[in-house]
Amino acid sequence: MGDRGKAVVTGAAGFIGSSIVDRLLAEGRDVVGIDSLTDYYDPGRKRRNIAAALTSGRFTFVEEDLVKADLSRLIDGCDTIFHQAAQAGVRASWGDEFSIYLHCNLDATQRLLEAVKVDQGIKLVYASSSSIYGAVSELPMRETSLPRPFSPYGVTKLAAEQLVDLYRLNYGVRASALRYFTVYGPRQRPDMAFNIFIRAALAGEKLTIYGDGSQTRDFTFIEDIVEANFRAAAYDGDEYVFNAGGGSRVTLKRALELVEEAVGLPLELDYQPASRGDVPDTLAATDRIESELGFKPEIGLAAGLAREVAWFREEELV
Ligand SMILES: NC(=O)c1ccc[n+]([C@@H]2O[C@H](COP(=O)([O-])OP(=O)(O)OC[C@H]3O[C@@H](n4cnc5c(N)ncnc54)[C@H](O)[C@@H]3O)[C@@H](O)[C@H]2O)c1
Repeated sequence: MGDRGKAVVTGAAGFIGSSIVDRLLAEGRDVVGIDSLTDYYDPGRKRRNIAAALTSGRFTFVEEDLVKADLSRLIDGCDTIFHQAAQAGVRASWGDEFSIYLHCNLDATQRLLEAVKVDQGIKLVYASSSSIYGAVSELPMRETSLPRPFSPYGVTKLAAEQLVDLYRLNYGVRASALRYFTVYGPRQRPDMAFNIFIRAALAGEKLTIYGDGSQTRDFTFIEDIVEANFRAAAYDGDEYVFNAGGGSRVTLKRALELVEEAVGLPLELDYQPASRGDVPDTLAATDRIESELGFKPEIGLAAGLAREVAWFREEELV
């Protein structure tokens, strides 16, 4: 990253955004964090995520919607933008809620790109998603595979990824996109699987599992995702999009056993039919991110889950 002075993080109070903020501050950077604290989950949780950052004199928090904010002013003088803001979640993206996905994922990204396009000194890192691949017939999922999202959420993430590419090709905006594969660890969103599993184990509550447990996911620990973002920020090569994953691919059944081991308590399971929009498997091809960014995930699932459980206990979440 250059010496223009500051970095901007959108979605700065969220799970991944706040983790990027903390690492930037630890490295002595000035940071502007933008987040409208949407009610997709408890905004109080998001305030907790940035509580430590707010004690730093180098962190400015702007509670605003990207679609309405004066973005040109907010990004003025920055060298990097980590664009993490989005309405996340696959299952909630059907029906009436879709307009929120359009607003937060597409309109917000378009507004940001309009502000960035006049300043070639900025590197934009866009948080894309493995959900853009959908139910592909061939694993691993490769950056060159034809994307076929399987949920409305995935459609908006792919559209925004392509919008960033358009501004890259037409206006010379310097940008990279990272397709995250299921991120977990401290601050994980409360609607995500491991968060739900750990909460159920700690509370001794019955857990509903959608599908028969044979589906697989490629899980990536939060610190590895932050590292991938930093590497993408420093990248100046020709590739645009990278899979950020390859940490640990396991079946849901095995993931549940690992949660029981990490918590030290058994889970009571109730199996239900698979949920619409959920894909059977994800697995990242990692050759591109390894060769271009020198990135390899370092934290395995057992160690990462232990860190997430420790966070639950520290925050007294159950
Ligand atoms: N967590 C994962 O496993 C995962 C996987 C693939 C992709 N992603 C992507 O990574 C990014 C971060 O995900 P997360 O898990 O940290 O989610 P999160 O919900 O914890 O964080 C997103 C933040 O963006 C904010 N936001 C949403 N719309 C906004 C707007 N219009 N203006 C300002 N702020 C807004 C929200 O308030 C929230 O705090 C998202 O773009 C998501 O699509 C996450």
